[in-house]
Amino acid sequence: MKRPPAKKVSASAIQEQREQVFPHHLNPAGILFGGEIAVWGDKVAALCAMQHCGMPVVTVVQEVRHEEAVKLGEWLLFKASVNRVWRSSCEVGIKVFAENLFTQELRHVATGYFVMATTKRTTSGARKWMPEVLPETTEEKKRFCEAALRNNRRKREEKKRKEKRNNHQETA
Ligand SMILES: CC(C)(COP(=O)(O)OP(=O)(O)OC[C@H]1O[C@@H](n2cnc3c(N)ncnc32)[C@H](O)[C@@H]1OP(=O)(O)O)[C@@H](O)C(=O)NCCC(=O)NCCS
Repeated sequence: MKRPPAKKVSASAIQEQREQVFPHHLNPAGILFGGEIAVWGDKVAALCAMQHCGMPVVTVVQEVRHEEAVKLGEWLLFKASVNRVWRSSCEVGIKVFAENLFTQELRHVATGYFVMATTKRTTSGARKWMPEVLPETTEEKKRFCEAALRNNRRKREEKKRKEKRNNHQETA
């Protein structure tokens, strides 16, 4: 399938997306509910993926690791970039920081990986392929390599999940 021309990571990277923690974002323990980071992160990841591929996308897999608790009133800074593209899917990495707006001090509070897939299809019904991504910096190249390892693991998990579902259907 024909791909659109490759794009640099920096062409779609999101450097500054901010959210503030309000009372309705807290869990019963009085700290930020983790699901809020997943929702905000998903939006940033979708925006980043769409800026890269120029097509609508859906979220296939969400993986978020919460490094530190976040308190009421804190400002969160989201950064996102496309780590790697396969055919119709890509991995977007996000990094979330609690930011002190007055001192610019950053505290790393979460990391996420989102697999996003295009929803546009060719006339034959296949999902359209995304442009390749071109990592340039040492950090971008490192993320590009690590994304392949994570995707191999996801594919193994997906295979197991499908096998389990098929076995379950056969015995039901
Ligand atoms: C996820 C979904 C798109 C997969 O659909 P499908 O018909 O099985 O499509 P495919 O098998 O062609 O998968 C699409 C892409 O996702 C990738 N993919 C699917 N499952 C994956 C997994 N567990 N891990 C990594 N990649 C995965 C495929 O490899 C493919 O990418 P590629 O073309 O780059 O190889 C489909 O199940 C869906 O639409 N789910 C709902 C999505 C949704 O509602 N998200 C929340 C709202 S945005």
